Amino acid sequence: MGGNISSDGSVFGLHTRATSYVFAVDPAGLLRHLYWGPSIGDVGQFPVPALAEVSTNDPVAHLTPQEFPAHGGFRYFETALRVVLADGSRELRLDVAGHSVDGDELLINLRDSYAEVDVDLHYRLIADLDLIERWAVVRNSGVAPITVEALASGQIHIPATDLRFTNVHGHWNAEQQQFQQQVSYGKIVTEMRRGTSTHHHNPYFILDSGAGEHHGDVWFGALNYGGNFKCVVEQTQYGSTLAQIGLNDYDFAFVLAPGDELRAPTLVIGHSDSGFAAMSHRLHEYGRRLMRDDRIRPVLYNSWEAATFSVNCDSQIELARKAAQIGIELFVVDDGWFGQRHGIFDGLGDWYVNEEKFPDGLQPLIDEVHALGMQFGIWFEPESVNPPTELYAQHPEWIYQVPGRASEVSREQYLLNLTLPDVQEFVFRSIDDLLSRHPIDYVKWDVNRPIAQAGTERSLWKRHIDALYAVVDRLHEAHPNVLIEGCASGGGRIDFGTLRHFDDVWTSDNTDAYERLTVQRSYSFVYPIKAMRAWVTDVPNFMSQRIIPLRFRFHSAMMGTLGVGLDLNEASDAERAECASYIEQYKQIRDVIQEGLFFRLRVQTSNDYQAFQYLLGDRSVVFVFLPQTKIGFHGETPRFRLHGLDPQGTYEVRTDGSGSQRSKVQESMGAAADSDGAPAGDGPTRHSGEYLMHHGLSVRLVGDYASTILEVEQI
Ligand code: DGJ
Repeated sequence: MGGNISSDGSVFGLHTRATSYVFAVDPAGLLRHLYWGPSIGDVGQFPVPALAEVSTNDPVAHLTPQEFPAHGGFRYFETALRVVLADGSRELRLDVAGHSVDGDELLINLRDSYAEVDVDLHYRLIADLDLIERWAVVRNSGVAPITVEALASGQIHIPATDLRFTNVHGHWNAEQQQFQQQVSYGKIVTEMRRGTSTHHHNPYFILDSGAGEHHGDVWFGALNYGGNFKCVVEQTQYGSTLAQIGLNDYDFAFVLAPGDELRAPTLVIGHSDSGFAAMSHRLHEYGRRLMRDDRIRPVLYNSWEAATFSVNCDSQIELARKAAQIGIELFVVDDGWFGQRHGIFDGLGDWYVNEEKFPDGLQPLIDEVHALGMQFGIWFEPESVNPPTELYAQHPEWIYQVPGRASEVSREQYLLNLTLPDVQEFVFRSIDDLLSRHPIDYVKWDVNRPIAQAGTERSLWKRHIDALYAVVDRLHEAHPNVLIEGCASGGGRIDFGTLRHFDDVWTSDNTDAYERLTVQRSYSFVYPIKAMRAWVTDVPNFMSQRIIPLRFRFHSAMMGTLGVGLDLNEASDAERAECASYIEQYKQIRDVIQEGLFFRLRVQTSNDYQAFQYLLGDRSVVFVFLPQTKIGFHGETPRFRLHGLDPQGTYEVRTDGSGSQRSKVQESMGAAADSDGAPAGDGPTRHSGEYLMHHGLSVRLVGDYASTILEVEQI
């Protein structure tokens, strides 16, 4: 829609709705990057003189911003490809050997005729989203094996310095902690070396020059890959910055026999000249299109925090009955239902139903869940095995291991070597068998430790992920209606690779509703809300010991795809009734939440408010949170400017109440009402779109853990 690829054989222009990406073959034969930014239709205007060396120490190949620089010659900045040739040399010189355009795809073939190595650079326009997908394929066209030691998905060049880099850091229970870092001379490197989890950094880069939510230049790129990645941002001495992202070269070597090829993961890139919100909107829509199943996601119940490993048929039925009463649509049995699983020490790999816990198998529970009108889901950790299991006794050779050395456990488990065809078959059969024998609607696929002692084969980091995706795809083919959630010890599998193959992601085991606001905000920069699973759990929270009111906990979890992990047996009738009312409300607004445009609202107050807007057609949902009141700023009534409304339209604003109480003393001092935009408990108010967008909606909360949801609808 609205894009095109222009090419005269030497200058190439990739035009999306509002951006252009331009590169050319320069007189030195190098594929040189020229431009990326707002649209420039006529690419013939770009001068492409050969760059001259600045000095003998600043040679041309070093100065030239190349599309896909290979190791060799005078190229000292980050290179996108390093290959060891049959003679042991690493020298490559890639020349343009041809190109072709097929609809919205451009293919550039680069070739080193001497080394007989080909590289295909693929570009695919997603014109309506102002995004470009790109990937690179390296091929051994010679007669002897070669070894790929480094392969990036792409490199981009920005003609500016002193940019700001945004990514996340974190670890288990503290995923998605956003950080921003000034780029200066030298490099910023973010990466994953663990094989199975993106807890520590996420496979994307965001670079901006003083941008805000709604203004400024932002250049960004994200991998469709959840395995070992490396992202390098390097500010050069020549007034530019390069960003490169792709396979991590850490402990990596991939041997290509004659005729074989290796494909780098797909990278999606984009430029926004109007800040971070536009970037997020495009990436959210990109992510939603990647997702295989576009159904609205059901409200789920998950037994993990309530029961941990102590699941059995009777107690799960008891929970299921209460879950149905509060409006749950999908009941998921988490860890503990299989093998001899009574803790972390045993069971993984023995995927038969534990007979003590489920004497008549799973079917009685599934029947009850279905009779209660809910779908049924179940947990697996298919990539893992505990040492005491039958599986390990039968196949000790199936784990990642180094011959002659003791294998190390983490969480008392090993990882299966998923690169082995027998293991792939076993994993597929284990899940397929259960899904074929029982009407199961949902699988939560977990993995709880990194790959270690990877053996002798340095390609396995990549081949593990390829095999994982292949098995999941095969399961989808066999059971197309089953949704599969991607989880890795909480939020360790959050990336576009996971979203291409899984249907939901578990965001974090950190279910503290206050901390989740931070996690969810960072997540929202790149990934679609629809895939973001969020549960309401008990207090005191199992990690933070924080006690947060049920209302705030629900509001926090309602910002994503809602789930409940409360011990419903412990909840009072009044609490369960309160749960039911929030779930009912969520069902009314979840289409806006799961499929709408998402805005992180600017908060014009010194108090600790956080506010978020979702917009779908003529409906908006606004969440406002005040985790902690600062009395000094108590008198302020903050205003939140909404976005994307029809300026001339009239909107009705409804509130579910502010969730904060005025005390008798406050009343006696004449303290203001909670909200002057949509007073708590009062009927709806009406405003024009321009009022809501320019003046803003006034919402005042008081107390700790106060929150409210406003529904805004054009009338
Ligand atoms: C880690 C997951 O993040 C949790 O939700 C839970 O499924 C446990 N694993 C079970 O062992």
